[in-house]
Amino acid sequence: MILKHGNVVTEEGVRSLDLRIEEGKIAEIAPQIEGEGLDLTGLTVFPGLIDMHVHLREPGFERKEDMTSGCRAAVKGGFTQICCMPNTDPVVDNKVVVTYLKTRAKETGLCKVHPIGAITKGQRGEELAAIGAMKAAGAVAISEDGTSVPSAKIMAQAMQYAADFGLKCLCHCEDKALVDGGVVHEGYYSTLTGLKGSMRAAEDIMIAREICLAESLNLPVHICHVSTYSGVQLIREAKARGVQVTAETCPHYFTLTDEAIRDFDTDSKVNPPLREEKDRVAVIEGLRDGTLDCIVTDHAPHHEDEKRVEYALAAFGISGLETSFALSYTMLAKEGPLSLSELAALMSANPASILSLQGGRIVRGAPADLTIADLNAEWTIDPGQFVSKGKNTPFKGRKVFGKIKFTIVDGEIKYREGGEAEK
Ligand code: DOR
Ligand code: ZN
Ligand code: ZN
Repeated sequence: MILKHGNVVTEEGVRSLDLRIEEGKIAEIAPQIEGEGLDLTGLTVFPGLIDMHVHLREPGFERKEDMTSGCRAAVKGGFTQICCMPNTDPVVDNKVVVTYLKTRAKETGLCKVHPIGAITKGQRGEELAAIGAMKAAGAVAISEDGTSVPSAKIMAQAMQYAADFGLKCLCHCEDKALVDGGVVHEGYYSTLTGLKGSMRAAEDIMIAREICLAESLNLPVHICHVSTYSGVQLIREAKARGVQVTAETCPHYFTLTDEAIRDFDTDSKVNPPLREEKDRVAVIEGLRDGTLDCIVTDHAPHHEDEKRVEYALAAFGISGLETSFALSYTMLAKEGPLSLSELAALMSANPASILSLQGGRIVRGAPADLTIADLNAEWTIDPGQFVSKGKNTPFKGRKVFGKIKFTIVDGEIKYREGGEAEK
């Protein structure tokens, strides 16, 4: 296959280039390659997007999402590789569940799926999960996502074990005692709505703890979905001291504020909660200056029965795979400070390097994982059009730029706009 006349995003910038794909790999990159090909005039070719924080809900919560619906949503959103979180039922805390997920992903045959194992058995916070066995079965990281490991001692042990196996701990940062049942950010809008709030410190204290452990042990740690200005600052200062900390954020934290809760739309309920304008601005600055390394969706699909209830009782989470690219492009590149190469780093090269995954760059010899978008296409987010089972998005009705046209995995077209997902 030859891809012709696309605007190709490389680390050096964007250039009109042709790409020849052979045996699933990028075989040639040149201004002009002879032969018939797919004409990409006017379209932009990104390295295949990678989302290192996705909830696929399988096994156990297939009413919310399953491997097939989740992978279809992923390729529709431009993702060629995703990592799935272990807060399923059963929890991914042993090699059997990791192997099951790998098998299901292979059967589905759309994007690459990398399981993340739990830190503790059953995510109960008491004893470490079978970390080495999960790594051997294909887990790419460990995480207690959905919660923090309560005991700093167990967390320290987890970091040491994980490091022995070349894995990173991905830390959801939340001090449960301080959250104390809060469902939104504590501030003006929590007062206005009467919804119970939770302060920034509930997230920051745990970010600080994980940084302290990483620093003391001289081991790496990765901070999940950073939402506070103060959390960004903690990570910035830690990086400046040489702590091996990396971090992610999500489109909702740089696009929305807690104003979105004022009409009690439960689709705005997410953990950590949407915060204030100064947090939103700080998250963008963190992405710009390299404090935050990557953009993830924290794709958290829920069944409508879990969202169409009163705010306090609704499930936390946003269905994000099908809106992440357009929101990120629109907010950060089109209307924001980032170049397309910087956006590609946040959505592809950096997550690949954090988890030592193949891919992330358009270079000769790399897997032909490519995401092709029309950046001039404006569209309106409509959850009715989602292929994810999770229709829960606070972005419904929002206009965005950037439409995914093709998603190519190992040289095969797995998604084509307007067509069915292909095998
Ligand atoms: O909003 C969230 N949803 N935050 C989490 O940490 C977990 C996730 C979920 O699993 O639904
Ligand atoms: Zn989380
Ligand atoms: Zn999550």
